[in-house]
Amino acid sequence: MKIAIGSDHAGFEVKEELKRTLERESHELVDVGTDSTESCDYPDFAGKVARAVAAGEVDCGVLVCGTGIGMCITANRVPGVRAALVTDAFTSEMSRLHNDANVFCAGSRVLSVDMIEDCLRLWMKTAYEGGRHDRRVGKIEEARNG
Ligand code: RB5
Repeated sequence: MKIAIGSDHAGFEVKEELKRTLERESHELVDVGTDSTESCDYPDFAGKVARAVAAGEVDCGVLVCGTGIGMCITANRVPGVRAALVTDAFTSEMSRLHNDANVFCAGSRVLSVDMIEDCLRLWMKTAYEGGRHDRRVGKIEEARNG
């Protein structure tokens, strides 16, 4: 898979660890930064990953900040993006099965790096269920217009 990945300073070390794992598994990565633990602003990186996903330049996105919340809020402002804040195996799997999530968000100050890695693996191998969920997922974009 081709994956856009980004973090802020709080998620930097987890991002680097995820990159090592994903590269070992032969995925193609587009790293939008940040490049160190120096303080920076999470929307800068969430926007880059979300726009790459929405434009179809990558198959999916991965974002890590302290809580995952700021990344998720920002990514979901981009039309066509369905970013999910994953907190465990259940939310990871359900966000693919039911919501067809295309951006994975996690908090480096919430979950261990091993847990984030396990959730991401599960997320990537879980297919969207379709069926009755198509109507609901379609309504996500429609909600923008009332
Ligand atoms: C940075 O201190 C922190 O606010 C950020 O990583 C994230 O948790 C925001 O949602």
